[in-house]
Amino acid sequence: MKKIVMSLIIGASILSAQPYTRADRIADMTKIAESMNIIQSGFFYNNYETIEAGVDKLTSTISKVKPVKEEMEQKDLMEKYMDEKFQMTNKIVKKINQKALTILERFKEGDSAQAVQAYTKIMGQCMKCHREIRRW
Ligand code: HEC
Repeated sequence: MKKIVMSLIIGASILSAQPYTRADRIADMTKIAESMNIIQSGFFYNNYETIEAGVDKLTSTISKVKPVKEEMEQKDLMEKYMDEKFQMTNKIVKKINQKALTILERFKEGDSAQAVQAYTKIMGQCMKCHREIRRW
């Protein structure tokens, strides 16, 4: 059921005519940074519901992240570069989603060390995208 809902959400965001702007992406980034904080405090307070809330917020927001309108408009000029950017974004987003679910699974099993490791891997993916897309 959750999968169906997720694919509906993803489908709707692809079909929607609203362009994804830089402001949208910054707002989404703020939300995923908050999600990471929520997950982290769930670890510290040893609270599954908190971690779950953070993971829900993270996965529902990261699914919306993509190259913004301005970048899409440059696509003709830099077709190859943009294709790489798209592919990379999709790959990273997918990885973040997977690792977020790993956090929940491992924590539920009582393996908080593995849960934290998955969290660290997500952080690595955040920084990978910032390095390669933003050149931070
Ligand atoms: C697909 C690429 C990508 C991924 C993945 C990504 N980011 Fe970002 N992030 C960006 C870009 C691009 C910007 C710059 C926003 C802009 O100016 O358009 C940014 C900016 C930010 C900012 C600054 C927002 C501001 O107010 O300027 C924060 C905070 C942030 N990201 C957090 C995160 C966190 C936390 C994660 C991982 C959970 C993450 N990002 C994953 C691409 C990404």
